[in-house]
Amino acid sequence: MIEQNVSLKHYNTFGFDIKAAFFTRVTHIEQLQTIFSDSNLPAQKLILGGGSNVLFLKNFDGLVIKIALEGISVISENDKQIIVKVASGVSWHAFVEYCITNNWAGVENLSLIPGTVGAAPMQNIGAYGVEIKDVFESLEALNIETLKIETFTASQCEFGYRESYFKHKGKGKYVILNVSFKLSKIPDFKTSYGIINETLALMGVQELSIAAISEAVIKIRKSKLPDPSEIGNSGSFFKNPEISNDIFEQFHTNFPNAPFYKISDSIFKIPAGWLIEQAGWKGYRNGDVGVHAKQALVLVNYGSGTGPEIRNLASQIQDSVFKKFNIRIEPEVNFVS
Ligand code: EPU
Repeated sequence: MIEQNVSLKHYNTFGFDIKAAFFTRVTHIEQLQTIFSDSNLPAQKLILGGGSNVLFLKNFDGLVIKIALEGISVISENDKQIIVKVASGVSWHAFVEYCITNNWAGVENLSLIPGTVGAAPMQNIGAYGVEIKDVFESLEALNIETLKIETFTASQCEFGYRESYFKHKGKGKYVILNVSFKLSKIPDFKTSYGIINETLALMGVQELSIAAISEAVIKIRKSKLPDPSEIGNSGSFFKNPEISNDIFEQFHTNFPNAPFYKISDSIFKIPAGWLIEQAGWKGYRNGDVGVHAKQALVLVNYGSGTGPEIRNLASQIQDSVFKKFNIRIEPEVNFVS
C-alpha cells in the first residue's frame, strides 16, 4: 500500500516533522521488486532503515520506502561458531539482545546503537573497539536496476572507518535485504577501551561475560549519548578526522595535550568531539538546536529545530574547528533534500 503525505516524525531520530509525498512499508522482497519495476511511481525514492543517520532538509517529494523485513535464522553452526542471517528491518539492538540471550559473542560491544541491521553495513557501524566488519560474513542486496539479488562478501563491501561500497560506488543502486554474521560460541572479550574496564569494575563484575560487557556499554552510552526518544539526534554527527603526518606534526606541537590515535605511520585520527569542545561548542544552544552537553560530537534537536538549522550549525562548527586547528571535520550523517 502506498500512502500519501505521511509525517516522517517517527521515522527519523532527529524527530523532524517533515512529510513524505509518498510512503510505503515493505515486509516482503517481492514488494520491492514490484516497486522498482513500476514506472508510475515517483522516480525519486529513499530507502529508510531506522532513520538514525539521516538529516532531512525539507519535505521529501518522492517515495519513502521503509524497510520492515523481519526474521533471524541460523545458517550453520559447529561447536565454536554460528552463522546467522538477519533480515534488514530487524532493529540492531534487538539483534544484539538476541545474541546475548543465546550466548553468541561478537556484537556485545555494539549494544544500543540505534538503527536497523540493514543500515549497519552501510557505514560499518562501530563502537568500543568493534566494527560490524569484524563479525560480518556476507549480505544479500537487491540490485534495483536488474531486480536480481546479489551476494556481497566482506571484501566486496569495501569496509572502512564508517565507510562501505554502499556509500560510494554502490550508492543508490542496492537495497540491503539481509546480513549474515559469524558469531562465536567461545567469547573473545574486547575490553581494550579503558572506560569498559572502569565501568565493569564499578558494576562489581567479578567474572566477565558478554551480558556484563553489553550492560557496561549500555551504561556508558546512556551516560554520554542522548536518547533519541527524548532529545532528537543521530549519534555522532561528524566522523573523527584522519589527518596526514605533516598536519599532525603541526597539530601536536600546538596542542600537545590533544588525544589522538595512530592509524598507520602516515595517518593519525583525532577525536572530533575534542576538537569541537575545544572550539567552545559543547553545550551550545540556539533556539531548539544545539551541541549535546555531554558529548560534543552529537548535534541535537530539542523539539522544533529543523534540518537546515542543524546543517547551518554543523557548517559553523566545521568552519570554527578548521580556523582553530587547520583540520576539516566531515559529517557522518547523510543529508536528504
Ligand atoms: N572528547 C572530548 N569532548 C567531547 C567528546 C569526546 O574531549 O565532547 C574526547 C574524549 O575525552 C576522548 C575522545 O574524545 O578522549 C574520544 O571520545 P569517545 O570515546 O566518547 O568516542 P568518540 O571518538 O567521540 C566514537 C564513535 C562513537 C562510539 C565511540 C566509542 C565516531 C564518529 N564516533 O566516538 O560512535 O560510540 O567512539 O567507541 O567514530 C556513532 O557513530 O554514532 C557513535 C556514537
